[in-house]
Amino acid sequence: MVEKEAVFSKKFEILKALIKNSRSTVVLTGAGISTLSGIPDFRSSSGVYANNWKTYQVEEILSISFFKNNPEIFYEWAKEYWYKLDTYQPNTVHTALATLEQKGYLEGLFTQNIDMLHKKAGSKKCYEVHGSAEHHHCTNCNAYYPYQHVAPLVLEGQVPRCTECGGVIKPDIVFYGENLDGFTLSRAYEMFNHAQLCLVLGSSLVVQPAASFPAYTVHRGAPLVIVNAQKTSFDSSATLRFTDLQQFSSALADFLTTLESRKPLV
Ligand code: OAD
Repeated sequence: MVEKEAVFSKKFEILKALIKNSRSTVVLTGAGISTLSGIPDFRSSSGVYANNWKTYQVEEILSISFFKNNPEIFYEWAKEYWYKLDTYQPNTVHTALATLEQKGYLEGLFTQNIDMLHKKAGSKKCYEVHGSAEHHHCTNCNAYYPYQHVAPLVLEGQVPRCTECGGVIKPDIVFYGENLDGFTLSRAYEMFNHAQLCLVLGSSLVVQPAASFPAYTVHRGAPLVIVNAQKTSFDSSATLRFTDLQQFSSALADFLTTLESRKPLV
């Protein structure tokens, strides 16, 4: 929902000052940002969870126990959703965040997205908290396989198997029932805890533990900025709230053209 220009501009002026004054800005992104690239999110009315896939709830398909018992059903689903991700391009949100980093204004970018688009846009300080479709491992011998190896097999209708031992290959994506990577999690706690500004873009903030990252910033009294078309449980803690990612990222991209580069602290 696009906001009225006068209301939006007033808030955006405040955001500009917050970005300029912060020596440590962290960003958390969710599936909402990739809707601008044409990838559906999960919990919007047109999201992946809105309808069952065949007789299954998609959340069930994305659980580790389901994957272990039914890899062929998982890959049949993933063939449509995850193994065409290489055909999508980064949008204004991804490119603006990459520029924010290149200009020295971003300490860490934490994404729940597995779609590889932040890295494609050029972000380096990017932590993929739910993993990435880029990497895969054999569930038996742990041999590594990249997306480029696995995607053609899945698109042919195969369950990808290890060329060494024949084990089922699994994407390095955090399924329901699996833990997040410990290193990524500790970086998140550290960075959100000492951030001077936190932006949350396109996440419903319902899936833990990522949904709690902004709490670390807010509890220390630092500003939180949320961009989401729908309400989130953190809205009452937000210093600023915007509703439309396209409107927000276009304004951010314009602002960044005027922003001088500075040396990052880290
Ligand atoms: P969700 O689908 O839960 O949330 C996306 C949010 O983006 C929604 O709240 C939308 O309102 C908002 N949104 C979408 N398009 C927008 C637009 N153009 N402008 C403004 N807001 C917009 O996605 P996540 O929060 O990322 O886990 O979901 C978290 C995790 O749940 C995912 O990483 C995934 C899923 O289970 C795994 O796959 C492991």
